[in-house]
Amino acid sequence: MKTFPLVDGPRPDFAIGHLTQFGRDPLAFLERCAAEHGDFVALRFVNKPVLLLNHPDLIETVLGGNLHDFRKTIGYRTPFMRRLFGEGLLTSEGELWMRQRRLAQPAFHRDRIAGYGTAITGFAEALLREWRLSEQRNVHHDMMRLTTNVVTKTLFNSPPPPEIDEMGAASEAVMERFTKQWSLWRFFLALFPSPSSRRFDQVMTRLDRFIYGLIRERRATERDEGDLLSMLLRARDEEGKGMNDHQLRDELVTLMVAGLDTTALSLSWAFLLLAQNPAAETALHAELDNVLGGRPAGFADLPRLPYTEAVIRETMRLYPPAWLVGREAVRDCQVGGQTVRAGTSLLMSQWLQHREARHFAEPRQFRPERWLGGGLAGLSKYAYFPFGGGPRVCIGSGFALLEAGLVLATVAGRFRLTAPAGYEVKPWPAITLQPRGGVWLRVEPR
Ligand code: HEM
Repeated sequence: MKTFPLVDGPRPDFAIGHLTQFGRDPLAFLERCAAEHGDFVALRFVNKPVLLLNHPDLIETVLGGNLHDFRKTIGYRTPFMRRLFGEGLLTSEGELWMRQRRLAQPAFHRDRIAGYGTAITGFAEALLREWRLSEQRNVHHDMMRLTTNVVTKTLFNSPPPPEIDEMGAASEAVMERFTKQWSLWRFFLALFPSPSSRRFDQVMTRLDRFIYGLIRERRATERDEGDLLSMLLRARDEEGKGMNDHQLRDELVTLMVAGLDTTALSLSWAFLLLAQNPAAETALHAELDNVLGGRPAGFADLPRLPYTEAVIRETMRLYPPAWLVGREAVRDCQVGGQTVRAGTSLLMSQWLQHREARHFAEPRQFRPERWLGGGLAGLSKYAYFPFGGGPRVCIGSGFALLEAGLVLATVAGRFRLTAPAGYEVKPWPAITLQPRGGVWLRVEPR
């Protein structure tokens, strides 16, 4: 691999380094670092060395690299991430992670997730029955409810539980808390009880009660409900051992939280982009009318809906739900021809790579066609990585693409969603890339 010169980032603030500059406006800060300092940028968050990797080859070395060299960053080990995810797949490391990934993988096999298609379309159709022509709706709110319904059905085969709104509230509380971490005084304040932390704890306690209740009930009946909970309950490692309740809880919460908000975001941003780009909307409608002729979409239709898939891919390029991933070097290692010391954090940003003119022509334009006909055949693997990459790549990517494709096809098959000229939504980089203030669109007939 070629050697990348390591260039110092913007001038650091004395004790804090770049932490507050980053925290004030993370996307603008990352863009400034890449534009003014290049592919491999040295930063400091308080006393922690941080490297920003802004080239696909560098990202591949880390994400696709040796699991013994890198682990997840400290961001995954904060008290509230631990409270939320425990030792689930997203946050665990080493032997535990490897065992759990092996146990969970079959639940995400293509044949298995194909069976969820009907449930997904059913929930989308139920949502559309609530929509009234000419009303303005917060489509992001709708998508969160929809993906929550899908996730509870596919994980637990349960009808939407009463806790459903609390789960929404939990994710808001989590976002609130997450964005409080970036400056030192806020970080310390966040260690003390506050209304938001108390609310977060209360919601987590109720969420745990709901999940442990389901686990107990299922263990008692031993019924195979065809859902992920049944699969995870039956999964056995090479020694014939399954998961205990605590581990199951951590995996279920992880799958629920990791899958619900990210997929909802990809849909909400897609509807906004379609409302802002009538030519793309027309092309999407033409494909849906040709292929489906008004009937609901199913799993088997997706290969015949390439434009629909391109809309999702292009949306996740411009508004990647995961906008930043991080790793920490656990021992001294080489990256881009430079020695990286143990303890250094390495940041890789989908937001930056996906909007990079070296990879994508007219990078800020929404052009789903770019994904069709092998137009991006030469694209480096890590120039576009909405689901991460390497051994810790998203386990739910197939599920997410299925859900997003079917929901998009169902909604766009029935309605147009429009926005007034000049309507913009600011992306808010919390744990995931949120639409600040929601996505308010008007329901129009096709
Ligand atoms: C559009 C939707 C989604 C996006 C953009 C997304 C993105 C990601 C990314 C970037 C990672 C890697 C994080 C890292 O390297 O630090 C990841 C991991 C993960 N995702 Fe997703 N995800 C999505 C949907 C889902 C769904 C539907 C599920 C489950 C039902 C899921 C479950 C997970 C899990 C368990 C991991 C951790 C995998 C491991 O470390 O073994 N995700 N996701």
